[in-house]
Parts: sequence; C-alpha cells; structure tokens
Amino acid sequence: METNTLHNVSQGLNFELSEEHLMIQKAARDFAQNELKPGVIDRDENQKFPKEQIKMMAELGFLGMMVDPKYGGGGMDTISYVLAMEEISKVDASCSVVMSVNNSLVCWGLQTFGTEEQKQKYLVPLAKGEIIGAFCLSEPEAGSDATSQRTTAIDKGDHYLLNGTKNWITNGSSASVYLVIAQTHVEKGHKGINAFIIEKGMPGFVVGPKENKMGIRGSDTHSLMFTDVKVPKENRIGEDGFGFKFAMKTLTGGRIGIASQALGIASGAYELALAYSKERKAFGKPIHEHQSVAFKLADMATEIEAARLLCLKAAWHKDMHMDYGLSSAMAKLFASRVAMWVTTEAVQIHGGYGYVKEYHVERLMRDAKITQIYEGTSEVQKIVISRSVLG
Ligand code: CAA
Repeated sequence: METNTLHNVSQGLNFELSEEHLMIQKAARDFAQNELKPGVIDRDENQKFPKEQIKMMAELGFLGMMVDPKYGGGGMDTISYVLAMEEISKVDASCSVVMSVNNSLVCWGLQTFGTEEQKQKYLVPLAKGEIIGAFCLSEPEAGSDATSQRTTAIDKGDHYLLNGTKNWITNGSSASVYLVIAQTHVEKGHKGINAFIIEKGMPGFVVGPKENKMGIRGSDTHSLMFTDVKVPKENRIGEDGFGFKFAMKTLTGGRIGIASQALGIASGAYELALAYSKERKAFGKPIHEHQSVAFKLADMATEIEAARLLCLKAAWHKDMHMDYGLSSAMAKLFASRVAMWVTTEAVQIHGGYGYVKEYHVERLMRDAKITQIYEGTSEVQKIVISRSVLG
C-alpha cells in the first residue's frame, strides 16, 4: 500500500515522502521483518522482554530519533518517527511501545523541559539507547483523572521525600530512569504537582511484580512503590508546580507515537490478510476473488490510509510548531479504533488459522486493544476533542 505524507510547500499540499523519509521507512521495515519477526511469537507467549532487539534498535538510532544530535539523538522529524513506529509496530508492538515511551515521553520531556545538567546526565544515555526510561503518571486511583495524584513529594529543604505507588508502568523493571509525577502541595490541586527524575536503585524505590497482560506481552509492565525516597532538589523538572502541565504536554506528543503504533498494528494485520487471501483457495479460487473478502480488504485499506493521514498530520503540526493537541487526540482515537477493527477482520479472513498463534494476526488483535487504553483512553481523547470542537 502507498504511504503518503504532507509537506509544507508554498503552492499547497504535497503528499510525497522525501528521499530521507523513504530511507528511514525502509530501514525500519527491513529491521522489523528481519530481526523482530523471528522470535516474536515466543517473546509474546513467554512474556520475554526484547532485550537484544532493543539493543539493536538503540544501535540503529530508533530510541532517540527526534533528540538533537548534540545530546546523542538522531535529529529527525516527527514524520520520520511515525514512519518508523508504523513499520516496527507491524511486527512487534512490544518493541514499539518501548520505543514510543523512550522517544515521546522520556526523551522529549527531558529535551524540552530539562536543565542542561539533567540533559547531560540523563538525556544523552537515553537518546543513545544505552539506558531506557519510564514515564510514571498512572496510579491505582488516578488513570484518566490525572489530577487526582496520591503520590506525594514533600519539600524537605535540599531534597523531596517521595511516597506512593504508580501502576501500569511500561518499562517498569527494564528502565534505569523514571519520570515520576507527584503531588507536592496537595491544597493547590493540579498546580501543586511536580515531575521528578528518579533513578533505579534509589533507597526506598521498589519495583513490584510484572503484570500478566492480554497483549504487548513482551513489554514489561509493573507497579512501582516509593517509600521515603530522597529525591535531590535538582531532579525536579521545571518550575515548582509545573508537573501537571509537563505530563499533559508530554502525553500530547506521546499520543502521536501510540496512534502510529495502532496504525502499524492495523497495517501489519492487513498485509498478512492480503497475502493470505492470495494463497488460500476456497470454492475453487483464491479467497480474494470472492467479493466478500475483496470488499473487506478494500474497507481495511481505506480505514488504514485515513488513520495514516491523521497520524502524519499530527506529526506535521508538531514539526511545524503548530498546536497538535487536537490532531494528536484525533489520530489516536481513530487509529486505535481502526487497529481493533482491522485486526478483527484480519483474523476473520484467516478463518481458523487466524485463531492460532503461527499466523500472527491473533497477537496483533490482542495488541491492538491496549492502544485504546494507554496514554489516554479513547474516552480521554474524546474529552480533548469535544472541548476543542465545542470551544
Ligand atoms: N497541554 C498543556 N496544558 C494542558 C494540557 C495540554 N495538553 N491539557 C491540560 N492542560 C492544562 C490546562 O490548561 C490547565 O491549566 P490552567 O489551570 O493553568 O488553565 C490544567 O492543565 C488543567 O487542565 P484541565 O482542567 O483540562 O484538566 P483535567 O483534569 O480536566 O484533565 C484530561 C483533562 C484531558 C482528562 C487529562 O487529565 C488527561 O489527559 N488524562 C489522561 C492521562 C493519561 O493519558 N494517562 C495515561 C498514563 S501514561 C501512559 O500510559 C504511558 C505508558 O506507560 C504507555
């Protein structure tokens, strides 16, 4: 299927990808097909974190794609990131969620709001992929309602004292650096929240057991417990009280990453269904010659292309330094819905084979569901979109 993108040209819109974009797309595709596909079923079934594969992704520059080269990153645009996320997610969404959190939430947050010292100490190894990061907002009683943080960080002069629990943390045990959102001045509501850089191994920081998930089973999701963790003052990100806005701004970009992940899961399932429909015969002819299958494929291709354009538009808004709050929410809402629908249809086209692991589509269907839940549920995206359209 054709992949198009938008460029800002004085005459209007140009839907061609640049040479550089095509090269990045091909590099990600080749890597995913050659290095991620073998072993993906085993990693999913046995919940194995893709350690070797993440190391290769780091060497190829996929973990700090948009970070300034002076901090060890690739200096690429968000469109390149969407293209790479799509190709990697077609094959292994457990790898692409690690990539998305590291790029969109952790590296972007530090590059945009960190001090020079924080960038040198944390961003450089994160962008090079020497270590990976985690973003810790969700709590047992604060998911969509992100202002209701219960984790506290009390100012003790030269340090903060951190106490609380975080839930559903991607890269929970494999990360070395954690961006933790906590309430510092409870009486101030969202204006009393701060974001902190926490290192693995700080006394009082314990990683809880791994979650046994329905999808993205290769990624490691944990709860985290903080008991009287002493956090140096210089580990706060931004001005006092900036934490809620830090989280919202960071998640706005994160939604482009997860929308692209959903797009990739959908297009991966579509490509498998298309190929299968040419091989499999029923009633004396390949099944794609039956209109019921051909029309399904036509609908799938159309929905995927619409999702791709929304992802690329949000990325383009970000690259052009335009407001991307609305476009990223629309991209995530739509692409995750498309991922659920397309993967279900891909299983249907495969019939009984679609229901067993060797054909990959059942995994993609399970992986698709999380894209409607994390980095803001579909309902959260609708809050953002409805507030925007209703003014
Ligand atoms: N950018 C900048 N500022 C923003 C913002 C944004 N996108 N959204 C809100 N704000 C600001 C507002 O301007 C407001 O500031 P002022 O008081 O100065 O005017 C402040 O933040 C509070 O805003 P709201 O009143 O709109 O906040 P709200 O409580 O109504 O929340 C919400 C709105 C959209 C539902 C928000 O809570 C939200 O996005 N929730 C979902 C959180 C989420 O995505 N969780 C996922 C966890 S992370 C994860 O999944 C990572 C992973 O591991 C994969």
